[in-house]
Amino acid sequence: MSERQTVRLLLAAMALAAPGLLVLGGLMLSGYLAPAPGFIAGAVLLVLGAIVAWRHLTGLTALHRRIESLAAHDEDLKIDAPTLPELSLALGRLVRHWQDRQRRLAEASEAANRILEALPEPLIVVDREHQVVRTNHAAEEAFQTRLVGRELATGLRHPQLLNAVDSALNEGQSLAAEITMPGPMNRNYSALVEPLGKQGALIVLHDLTPVRMGERMRADFVANVSHELRTPLSSLLGFVETLRGPARDDKDAQDKFLTIMHEQAERMSRLIEDLLSLSRIEMDEHTRPRGQVDLRHVLGNVKDMLSIKSAARHMRVELDIPDWVRPIPGDADQLTQIFQNLIDNALKYGRENTAVEVSVTRPSERELTVTVTDHGEGIAPQHLPRLTERFYRVDAARSRQLGGTGLGLAIVKHIVNRHRGHLTVDSRLGEGSRFSVTLPA
Ligand SMILES: Nc1ncnc2c1ncn2[C@@H]1O[C@H](COP(=O)(O)OP(=O)(O)OP(=O)(O)O)[C@@H](O)[C@H]1O
Ligand SMILES: [Mg+2]
Repeated sequence: MSERQTVRLLLAAMALAAPGLLVLGGLMLSGYLAPAPGFIAGAVLLVLGAIVAWRHLTGLTALHRRIESLAAHDEDLKIDAPTLPELSLALGRLVRHWQDRQRRLAEASEAANRILEALPEPLIVVDREHQVVRTNHAAEEAFQTRLVGRELATGLRHPQLLNAVDSALNEGQSLAAEITMPGPMNRNYSALVEPLGKQGALIVLHDLTPVRMGERMRADFVANVSHELRTPLSSLLGFVETLRGPARDDKDAQDKFLTIMHEQAERMSRLIEDLLSLSRIEMDEHTRPRGQVDLRHVLGNVKDMLSIKSAARHMRVELDIPDWVRPIPGDADQLTQIFQNLIDNALKYGRENTAVEVSVTRPSERELTVTVTDHGEGIAPQHLPRLTERFYRVDAARSRQLGGTGLGLAIVKHIVNRHRGHLTVDSRLGEGSRFSVTLPA
C-alpha cells in the first residue's frame, strides 16, 4: 500500500468513526461513561471504520485496475488510490477511447471491403456448410448471377472446384485447380481455394481465358501459315516432277506449267511479305506514327495503283474528298496499305460494271472517316466479327483463287489500331459492303 493510500485510509476511517467518537467523547465528559470503556469503544469504532473504508477503497482500486487494463495503453488512466470523481473521469476517457477504436475498426473494415470489391479477380467466400456468404463485384460480373445466400454447388456446378472446397474445409489444405466454366463462351479459370478456419473457405479465381486463347491462336496461326504455304509448295513440286518426267520434251506444256509455277511462287512470296508486314506493324503498334498525311494524295495514288485491276473488271473508283480535308497525323505508307487493301477487296468482291465509292466525312471535330463502299455480294452477319482475324475468309477457295492471302483485313486492323482509330463494317448480303476507317484528325 502506498503512503497516499494509507493516509487516505486513515482519514476515511476517522471520518466514518467521527459521529460515534463525538458521542463517546460527550458521554465521557459528562461522566456517563468511564474513560476506559470509552477509549476501548472509540478504538473499536476506529477499527470498524478502517475496515469499511478499506473495503471501499480496495473495491475502487480493483475497479480502476479493470478500467486501466481495458484501456491498456492509456497512461493518463493510472491513478493511485482513486476517488469516485477520478474514476468517473477515467471511465469517460475509456468510453471515448473505445468509441475511437470502434471508429477506426469500422474504417479499416470499410477499406478492406473496398479493396475486395476493387480486386479484378472474382472472390467467393463459403461457410463450413458450403453456403456462399460473400462475393465481390468481379465474381458477380463473371457469373452474371447473385451467389450470396445460395449453396456453392447450385451456383457453380463444377465438380473439381467443389472437391477442392471440400478438402479445404475438411483438411484445412489450400488447393489450386484449373477449371473450365461452360457457357456461351467457355471460360478457363485457375481456382485457388484457401481454408479460412471456422469461417469456411475463400475461393479466388484467376481468368486464364485470354492466355489460353492466345495459345490457341498461336497454334492456329502456325497451322494456318503451314497450310497456306503447303498448297502452292506441293503444286510447285508436282510441276517440277512433271517437267523432269512426262513433259520433258513438251514445249507447250513447259510454258503452261512454268506460268502456273510462277504464279504459285508469287503467291508464296506475297504471303511471306504480308506476314512480315503484319509482324512489323504489330511490333510498333504501341508507338504513334509521327508524320502528316495528305489523304487526297494517298487515295489518288491507291486509285492509280489499282487502275489496271478496276479496268479489267469494268469498274470505277470514285473519290469524293471535300475541300475541308486537311493533312492528318499518320504514316503515309501504312495508310496507303489500308486503303489499298480495302479498295482492292471492293474491286475483288464488287460486281462487274459497278462503282467503288470512296468518301471522306467528319463524324466529329477531331475525327475523320474514310468509307469504302462496294456493290457486290456482301457479307453475312455471322462473318463480320471475324473478318479481321488472320486467314479468315468467307470463301477460302475463292479468295485463294483471286490471289488473296486472307491477311489484308488483319493488316488493316493493326494499322488502324496503331493510328488510334477504328474500323467498322456494314454489309448486306446481295447489296454490298461498306468499310469505314475513322482516324483522329
Ligand atoms: N468488300 C468485301 N465484300 C465481300 N467480302 C469481303 C469484302 N472484303 C473482305 N471480304 C471477305 O473478307 C475476307 C478477308 O478479307 P482480307 O482482305 O483479309 O483477305 P483477302 O482479300 O481474301 O486476301 P488479301 O487481302 O490478303 O489479298 C475475304 O476473303 C472475303 O471473304
Ligand atoms: Mg483483301
